[in-house]
Amino acid sequence: MTEKVLIAGARGLLGQKIVEIFKRESEYELLPCELNAETEGYIELDITDRQKVMDTVGKERPAVIVNAAAFTDVDRAETERELAYKVNATAVAHLAEAAKIFGAKLVHISTDYVFNGQKGSYAEDSLPDPIGYYGKSKLAGENLAKAQVDNLVILRTQVLYGFAKGVKRNFVIWVLEKLAAGQDFSVVTDQVGNPTIADELAFAVLKVVKKNAIGIYHVSGFETLSRYEFARQIAEVFGFSPSIISTTTTDRLNQKAKRPMNSSFICLKAQTELGISMPSVKDSLSLMRQQMKQAGVKF
Ligand SMILES: NC(=O)c1ccc[n+]([C@@H]2O[C@H](COP(=O)([O-])OP(=O)(O)OC[C@H]3O[C@@H](n4cnc5c(N)ncnc54)[C@H](OP(=O)(O)O)[C@@H]3O)[C@@H](O)[C@H]2O)c1
Repeated sequence: MTEKVLIAGARGLLGQKIVEIFKRESEYELLPCELNAETEGYIELDITDRQKVMDTVGKERPAVIVNAAAFTDVDRAETERELAYKVNATAVAHLAEAAKIFGAKLVHISTDYVFNGQKGSYAEDSLPDPIGYYGKSKLAGENLAKAQVDNLVILRTQVLYGFAKGVKRNFVIWVLEKLAAGQDFSVVTDQVGNPTIADELAFAVLKVVKKNAIGIYHVSGFETLSRYEFARQIAEVFGFSPSIISTTTTDRLNQKAKRPMNSSFICLKAQTELGISMPSVKDSLSLMRQQMKQAGVKF
């Protein structure tokens, strides 16, 4: 008997990695969903459409719903609040309601941006206090899901990166583009976090499904780095000289959304309960480099 796993947002960075990793496991039948029907075999699902969510889950009856869909543009979330809330909060309630009605487990992905970033070393029971609208909408999504369904896992992650086709630019790709252009550029030294390769987060999703876990888990890389330190490691792994990278601070960037300065995680719960151990940033970047090479993407 195979278990059906529905993946919302299956064309996003994490969504693609989740599809890849579940495909290797014969006990699951995948139901990948995307916002606009473009991929053969994928189900069109706008998670903000409550009726469509109910109809899809009611028809397919998955054992697990994974929500990798989100409004992830932190700055745009400040000006497009209504849409950000609809996708990151109201739609999560739709998925949770459907999970409850049709007896599925919901695995939802959340973020370090639910914290204010004043102290760092956040554990699952640390008090959320988002400072921007993206974080507020994601926290609302967590709370709406908790209010609807008990069979729920929330995986909070941060500084997510990786290689997948047709996804929005992540920090590593941005740094690589700058390095390849060969002109000096600067990166902030005062934003600190745990870079997380999407492939490993997808593996954590598989683990929580296999272990039938419930609750909140922090899942991120174990190294705490400033964005500047991270950028230097990217340069080294991809064979560029880090010397063209200079330093700056967040106050000079004039970004629309406030960022948590130190949102580092304690991931002990995921390590002990789920057996998750993350590779180093260097090894993760090497994997990404290899994947890009195989796909013929040059930097
Ligand atoms: N990126 C990070 O640094 C980071 C950090 C912490 C947590 N997270 C969380 O990790 C998760 C995955 O992030 P990611 O980087 O993989 O995001 P991503 O690449 O931006 O993918 C998100 C996907 O959601 C889809 N989507 C947007 N609105 C939708 C809707 N109404 N219905 C269905 N699908 C919709 C998008 O489709 P379109 O592209 O067609 O709009 C996109 O394919 C998210 O929950 C995010 O909040 C990310």
